[in-house]
Amino acid sequence: MTKPTVFVPHTIPDKALHRLHATCEVIYRDLRSEPTQTELADGLRGAKGMVCYGKISVRESLLEAAPQLEVVSNIAVGFDNFDLAAMQAHWVSGTNTPGVLTETTADLAFALLMAAARRIPEADAYVKSGQWQKWVPDLMVGSDVYGKTIGIVGMGRIGEAVARRALGFGMTIVYHNRRRQPNAELALGAVYRASLEELLGESDFVVLLTPLTKHTFHLIGEDELCRMKRNAWIINVARGAVLDESALMKALDGGWIAGAGLDVYEEEPLPANHPLLSRPNVVMLPHIGSATVATRENMALTAVDNIIAYFSGRRPPNLVNPDVWERRFGQSAERMKE
Ligand code: DGY
Repeated sequence: MTKPTVFVPHTIPDKALHRLHATCEVIYRDLRSEPTQTELADGLRGAKGMVCYGKISVRESLLEAAPQLEVVSNIAVGFDNFDLAAMQAHWVSGTNTPGVLTETTADLAFALLMAAARRIPEADAYVKSGQWQKWVPDLMVGSDVYGKTIGIVGMGRIGEAVARRALGFGMTIVYHNRRRQPNAELALGAVYRASLEELLGESDFVVLLTPLTKHTFHLIGEDELCRMKRNAWIINVARGAVLDESALMKALDGGWIAGAGLDVYEEEPLPANHPLLSRPNVVMLPHIGSATVATRENMALTAVDNIIAYFSGRRPPNLVNPDVWERRFGQSAERMKE
């Protein structure tokens, strides 16, 4: 049987690549740079699958250039790079990697919150640059974390994992989500706020964890930042565009909030002259929420397993648009394998 051709447009962990080679013909571009549109179109010629991450946008133009493409597997839990309507029209399935990065990303979210509140990067730079002369009571004073109120916007898997950490810090947990999450309420004592405004007004730390959709684009703008307490922090580990960065600049300039911890940005990588770069009260990371050796490997393996399942006639475990798969294979493919 001929193996299906799968295009991998950038470097992935070896273990995942080997697993993919066992069942697929792999066109591998072992590069860390972003592929150009031409490289993408070339690599996709004849490919039935693609395993990718980062900025690759699966939109109409790409799908038109890849008529044989059937499945795209993201090495990420987020899939805002998928144009689901276009994929539906071209009968292209999409998969992601939920679950495997939950705890790692929650660790990072909490680390970022702590780093911002306790000025860790600033203090580190201060010591290393030889400025530390004397212990004084107001040296690098920051905000307390324990016992404060954390407002989680987006109570999915990662939100719950952040809430578990917050519990250990004796924090009051409030959350806003499209749907109520009884598990977070019962197991973690998280209190639901139907109104985002209410959550913003009472939280000392607002942590953004919602996926980027047309509904959450600029969910936090000027009005929302204005409602936050003047000594509160905003932490974004979701997607850059959930937080309106120009509004954030205004809020920082106007002293509406204490500061921010950011792992994600409206434009990534950040342009060299970005105004946020000069802010001492903004801790900035290069989109490393899930960046541990083990988790990145597990994400790649999960993505590859999704593709392998697809081409062996099994329903991929992490379909983000199951309708497309159902339409192409119906229930019969499932039953044949049983
Ligand atoms: C994710 O998994 O969505 C991470 O943000 C990497 O893109």
